[in-house]
Amino acid sequence: MKGIILAGGEGTRLWPVTKATSKQLLAVWDKPMIFYPLSTLLLAGVRDILVVTGPGQAEAFRSLLGDGSAFGVSIAYASQPRPEGIAQALLIGRDFLSGEGCALVLGDNLFHGDRLRERLRRAVRRPAGATVFAHPVRDPQRYGVLAFDGDGAPLDIIEKPASPPSNLAVTGFYLYDGTAPDRAAELRPSARGELEITDLNRSYLEDGELAVETLGRGCAWLDTGTPASLLQAAQFVQAIEERQGLKVGCPEETAFQLGLIDADGLAERARAYGSSEYGLYLAHLAREEGSVPDPAGGLPVGGESRMSLP
Ligand code: DAU
Repeated sequence: MKGIILAGGEGTRLWPVTKATSKQLLAVWDKPMIFYPLSTLLLAGVRDILVVTGPGQAEAFRSLLGDGSAFGVSIAYASQPRPEGIAQALLIGRDFLSGEGCALVLGDNLFHGDRLRERLRRAVRRPAGATVFAHPVRDPQRYGVLAFDGDGAPLDIIEKPASPPSNLAVTGFYLYDGTAPDRAAELRPSARGELEITDLNRSYLEDGELAVETLGRGCAWLDTGTPASLLQAAQFVQAIEERQGLKVGCPEETAFQLGLIDADGLAERARAYGSSEYGLYLAHLAREEGSVPDPAGGLPVGGESRMSLP
């Protein structure tokens, strides 16, 4: 399965901060925002990634992420000329996907939690259709919201409803089979002029091919679209990292734990970050003894002092 990180948009709700830079490059505590969705894709088992940026922004992302080899994956770049909707990412990525299924993640969505890797991978194994991940929120009218029938089966998805049918928002991580670009090509722009991801999801739902995975209390989902939510996300990460001494959304660490890069690769990346706190953290991980990545690509064994993957 391939992966797309959508990192375009104008970030209007964060102006003037995002007038001259991409939102997804802003800091969420100690690392750029895009590190979080990148870590999520790695956890889901994705190894071939397309980063879709705003016009003229690809070089900035490339100077941060390179060709992906620092994370043991391949990263390519494409540009979205105008923010004409999240579903447009599937059209921009059509050649890259070449008929394969994909995981699409919004570049401003942060996931952290218990058994996340297991849940993502289980969903990735589903052979056909689409999967959306739902999460309870206090303000569902800001999101795509799920409606359910009496048996708990998904009935509809409504984008930013004035009267939400439930408190379950659709998060910005989606799994699609190979039909997604064709389905996206059939969509018509909404009243706000966008190819809505909710309409794409509804097309799967109408065909009886949409699965819903609910992420409960053990899992945190944060987005970072406004000054308040950006600050909250940073404070969330700070609180966990300072309490545990372990990083959230650190793609180099995830890559190391998954056996995608070795200790030398990790040390090289640590050197590239110099004496920053992030660089020192990676250097420390690279020096740690007794952690041998399992050849099947699973969790490292014998490394008691190392964090276990979420
Ligand atoms: O965060 C989850 C929500 O994301 C879902 O619940 C909604 O169904 C979905 O429509 C979306 O809602 P938002 O209002 O948060 O979407 P927004 O326009 O803020 O875009 C989300 C991210 O995608 C943002 O980082 C910018 C990027 N983006 C968006 C559009 C429309 C692009 O890169 N290109 C685009 O054309």
